[in-house]
Amino acid sequence: MSQTISQPPVTSPTAGDAPHSAEQFGEQRDLWYEPGFLDRLAARAGLADPGIARMLEVGVGQGHWSALIARRVPALAELTVVDFEARWVMDAEGQLRGKLGARGDGVAITAVQADAQVLPFADASFDLVTCQTVLMHLPRPEQALAELCRVLRPGGVILVAEPSNLYPFSAFDSAAAALGLDGQSARYRLWLACHLGRIAQGRGDFNLGDRLPHLFRTLPVEGFGIVMNDKVHDLAPPYSDDAKTLLGFGVDWLETALGADAERTVGLAVAGGLEHAEALALLDVERRYLAEQQRQLAAGTFVAGGGAVHYLAWARRTR
Ligand SMILES: C[S@@+](CC[C@H](N)C(=O)[O-])C[C@H]1O[C@@H](n2cnc3c(N)ncnc32)[C@H](O)[C@@H]1O
Repeated sequence: MSQTISQPPVTSPTAGDAPHSAEQFGEQRDLWYEPGFLDRLAARAGLADPGIARMLEVGVGQGHWSALIARRVPALAELTVVDFEARWVMDAEGQLRGKLGARGDGVAITAVQADAQVLPFADASFDLVTCQTVLMHLPRPEQALAELCRVLRPGGVILVAEPSNLYPFSAFDSAAAALGLDGQSARYRLWLACHLGRIAQGRGDFNLGDRLPHLFRTLPVEGFGIVMNDKVHDLAPPYSDDAKTLLGFGVDWLETALGADAERTVGLAVAGGLEHAEALALLDVERRYLAEQQRQLAAGTFVAGGGAVHYLAWARRTR
């Protein structure tokens, strides 16, 4: 059995933000984890508990996270997914059935359009509640976490994965190294201002992962655990196909932020505390970085560390 439920239209919690594009859900998202890491995570969080049959993922997108986790829940019988955007809700069952394959047989899938901060479910409806890279987009992540906990039954598991996304802008890759002290500091200043601007405008906190232990303290949970994703991408030349996918994604993202979305990037930086003229000047530095990165990629000399700061935290709802 499966169904799609569309709630009455809801107001965007992050008004003015571009919706999540299909590009953000590209192939690169499949490369985030080593399977063994997720197996160990599932064991530590107790996902093989026979009492975990009803799972909820909030902010499903194209189902990448649901599929990775659902595969590691042996007693799974019902998978409910929520997204704020109608297109991901309409798409959800097909995406999930495609990703789960035979593992999805006999699992009832329900997709619901709703806001993570106001979930349309009764208290204690689920045995496992999870989200990945969703709280970072919300103006009120504490409220969403409280909602996730409210719909979780006592003894059930909450599992949250969120990054700290400033790291890539301070990473010592070979294009950044070519910019020298002033250029590298300028890069960090620009993106830090954008992150602060995002918070000031109520568009979320892209470093929310750093606050997960603190946020969990506010919940009625016990048995808190937290780990860091152990995946490091090999981005040294000659580039593997996976490296090409990841590097291509990064270049496309930066090209958009400095090109089609330049006005938005400047707006965020100004909201984060920069003068308009300085924001424009820092964008030019970042354009120099991008040009240098593209030159090195074409020459096959670009080198980067390939790590990310991505936390995964879990706990059990107190009984
Ligand atoms: C970065 S994507 C993550 C998708 C998926 N969790 C994954 O890891 O592949 C964030 C998702 O959260 C959804 N989203 C954003 N704000 C939301 C809200 N207030 N309530 C529910 N979903 C929301 C977006 O539409 C998007 O699909």
